[in-house]
This record gives sequence, C-alpha cells and structure tokens, in this order.
Amino acid sequence: MSAPSILIRSATPADIDAIMKIEYESFVAGSREDRDLYLKRIRAFPDGFLVAENAETGEVGGYISSELWREDQGVNAEVLALGHDPLELHDDNGTNLYITSFGTLQSWRGQKIGLRLFAALEDKIARDYPDVTKEILIVSEKWTAARHLYAKRGFKETGRIIDFFTPDDLPAEDAVIMMKDIAKPVQG
Ligand SMILES: CC(C)(COP(=O)(O)OP(=O)(O)OC[C@H]1O[C@@H](n2cnc3c(N)ncnc32)[C@H](O)[C@@H]1OP(=O)(O)O)[C@@H](O)C(=O)NCCC(=O)NCCS
Repeated sequence: MSAPSILIRSATPADIDAIMKIEYESFVAGSREDRDLYLKRIRAFPDGFLVAENAETGEVGGYISSELWREDQGVNAEVLALGHDPLELHDDNGTNLYITSFGTLQSWRGQKIGLRLFAALEDKIARDYPDVTKEILIVSEKWTAARHLYAKRGFKETGRIIDFFTPDDLPAEDAVIMMKDIAKPVQG
C-alpha cells in the first residue's frame, strides 16, 4: 500500500469533529481536553493550529495546536495546567511557542505523518513569527512515541512535574518539560 498524499493546512472550526476523534484515540479519560477548548485554540491562534488531511479522501487524521506566550509569562505548573484558557495566555507578539496538543489517528501512525505535521508547524512559526526564540512542551513520561519524536526534533528535557497527568483509574504520570532554543542567523 502506498503512503497517502497528505496536505497540511490551518485548522478551521469545521474540523472540530475530526480533531475530537483524534483526541479520543490519542488520550485516555482524565488526560483528554474538551471540544470548547479546542474551538478556543483555533480562535486564539489559527496560524499555530495545523491539521493533516488525506488529499484524496479529505479525512483529517492529525492535528497540532499551539500558543505564543510572552517571555515574562513564566513556565510553571499553573500555566501548563491542562485546559488553561488560550484566549488569556496567547499573545501574537509572544516569543515562546508552547505546543498545547498533538496527535494522529491510530490508523495513521507510523507513517511519519506526525513528524511532518510537527516540522510543518516549526517551519511556519520560523517563517511567520521570526521573533519566537524558544519552543516549550510537556509530555507524559509514558508517551514513548512523542518523546522520541521531540528528541529527534532537538528538544531537551528541562524538568519534571511529578504526578501531573491523572488518567482515570490509572496511576498518575509525571510530565516531562521539554524545550528547544531556536537559533537565529547572526546579523551583519
Ligand atoms: C506522537 C504521535 C503524534 C506520533 O505520530 P506518528 O505519525 O505515529 O509518528 P511518526 O510516524 O512521524 O514517527 C515519528 C518518530 O517516532 C517513532 N515512533 C513512532 N511510534 C513509536 C513508538 N511507539 N515508540 C517509539 N518510537 C516511535 C518513529 O519511529 C519515528 O522516529 P524515526 O524517524 O526515528 O523512525 C502519535 O504517536 C500519537 O498520536 N500518539 C498519541 C498522542 C500523543 O502522545 N501525543 C503527544 C502529546 S505531548
């Protein structure tokens, strides 16, 4: 079977059902975020919310969402909390890119679509938001595929928040905080 032809584009509110299907396949109850929050994320920063679409069938099978934070925002458990309001934290002039969520349908995995989606967001931010100097994300210690992908994209572990994720009926999981500095070309 040949790899599907994939189109990566900005999300719109019309993608919300597909995004929620991916969310449900990607995260267990207790670690999931809700529909209203995803709609707010699309509204707050559409340039930072991309989806991957099968160019032949139109199926949307992957998404990545993000916010821009001001440098003085700080990075701590309170602002990192799942479900925080993107309309309050996002600032178009922020210099820190915070990746809020990322996932692909189970049937789409292992075909480098996640990697392409992630790289597409980084490329778009580098091109359209050249003042961004740092990327930040958190990932559960248990999400092996995502951790592998982030390390491959140059992220380094900078800290942990103990028992941050509290999946229903399962032991709590630590959040690994990962960051990446974006090198800027030297002027002159
Ligand atoms: C993380 C996720 C989006 C990756 O999507 P994907 O399309 O399957 O990933 P890719 O095919 O692009 O693979 C990217 C890299 O991860 C590796 N990888 C994929 N699954 C893996 C696994 N289960 N364990 C270890 N590495 C894995 C791939 O081999 C590839 O690395 P390589 O290029 O060195 O071979 C997907 O696994 C997912 O939705 N997971 C559940 C949600 C999640 O954890 N989201 C992250 C929130 S922080």
